[in-house]
Amino acid sequence: MDFSYASSFSLIFLAFCFSSLSTTATARGGERSSDFSGYLDHNLAYSTRKLSEDKQSATGVDVARGYMTNVELEKAVEQFGRRCSHISRFYSIGKSVEGVPLWVMEISDKPGQQEAEPAFKFIGNVHGDEPVGRELLLLLANWLCDNYMKNPLFFPLNDDLDSRQPETKAIMSWLKERRFTGSASLHGGALVANYPWDGSQDKRKQYYACPDDKAFRYMASVYSRSHFNMSLSKEFDGGITNGAFWYPIYGGMQDWNYIHAGCFELTLEISDVKWPNADELPVLWEFNRMSMLNLVASFVKTGIHGKTFSSDNGQPLPASITIKGINYTVKADGSFGDYHRMLAPGESYEVMVTMPGYQSKSTHILLEDEAMSVDFVLDPEDDLQMHLQPRSSCNDNHKLELLKIFGKIHLEIPLVAAFILAFLCFLLKRKPIVNLLKNRQLAGQKRPAAV
Ligand SMILES: *[C@@H]1O[C@H](CO)[C@@H](O)[C@H](O)[C@H]1NC(C)=O
Ligand SMILES: *[C@@H]1O[C@H](CO)[C@@H](O)[C@H](O)[C@H]1NC(C)=O
Repeated sequence: MDFSYASSFSLIFLAFCFSSLSTTATARGGERSSDFSGYLDHNLAYSTRKLSEDKQSATGVDVARGYMTNVELEKAVEQFGRRCSHISRFYSIGKSVEGVPLWVMEISDKPGQQEAEPAFKFIGNVHGDEPVGRELLLLLANWLCDNYMKNPLFFPLNDDLDSRQPETKAIMSWLKERRFTGSASLHGGALVANYPWDGSQDKRKQYYACPDDKAFRYMASVYSRSHFNMSLSKEFDGGITNGAFWYPIYGGMQDWNYIHAGCFELTLEISDVKWPNADELPVLWEFNRMSMLNLVASFVKTGIHGKTFSSDNGQPLPASITIKGINYTVKADGSFGDYHRMLAPGESYEVMVTMPGYQSKSTHILLEDEAMSVDFVLDPEDDLQMHLQPRSSCNDNHKLELLKIFGKIHLEIPLVAAFILAFLCFLLKRKPIVNLLKNRQLAGQKRPAAV
């Protein structure tokens, strides 16, 4: 296992959900259900967004003409699976409320294997009446398959290198097993990249920044600026918006991912019109293609990545990584010890690593435009203590703390999903800037720790 990433691919998930057209749901971009425990602004929010003109919200066959039906979509995904079986895998994570299996399709150079790499998921068709996303995701999956191993990048290389529905529960337990670094759900009805928080503490419509506001603004801008014209928005400065500033919602998927799944998720509104004529889909795909790819790429092209090890036996440690001044903890993986931390580039950071039973460490970094590799080798506090300490982390406490703010948060991921598709993307080679473990053969060796 080589952490230089030189020759491997990242594992990226494309979640792809579809449902009946009549679905209503409570989450950004969807229709409000009548039991939405409300607050002030939601009518205002709708008028602000100019959503759901009558003809767009119609669920008749006319607006759907030219779009794939669920059956056609399922076929297309199966075809994709056959054509690209060398890099993909299907599995089900449960059933939807209507009893339809929730399939995951994973695309990876090593399908079925978890690796010490960042993972990304896309979720489309969260609301049954916003069909553009699911069409684009299928196009994206096929594009990736066609370009797999051909053109190393689509991207310019800059270096060498509680829920009510069963599908909600299924997604939640899936996310407990399957860690994602980043995520995006695709919606229609506006043109903007929306980032947390979606809800504000006092439920008013106001900018409500999460601890990683800068990183989220960066991610949202990557999407917006790579898009044909999202950044030219008159309604949203730069084509991005804080969710609570636009209109607050609670129990949305985006906040849940950040709080509970350690995953940085955006909500992407990718077309003003929910049901554009189907013949506009190729254009919409072109408008969004580089955005989707660049967003995924940003998770390997920037931020800090590394591993946390024990100095006495070289074993990976599920240590907690925090950045001074940012009240959020990212936890390293228990099996591989890898962590991936999105951060806005062009800033200095102090990275701190803690692990019960081990001496904490910290280091200063200047994160420029490229990603950095920062590994940590932690020394036991002392041998006896190390054996007595439980292997836990601050992460859970932290999540609980965050939960207190959003005391009322309850998951309403409105997935009435029948399908989830996952796929892989190319991993960018990158030059480790701080790479403190030159010798990778750690096992059984005692080594001095530089960080
Ligand atoms: C983006 O381009 C589309 C297609 O030309 C147009 O309908 C839309 O109004 C444009 N949006 C912005 C924000 O420029
Ligand atoms: C960190 O965030 C939690 C809730 O999100 C809050 O209770 C706590 O006071 C914060 N800590 C600091 C140092 O701001």
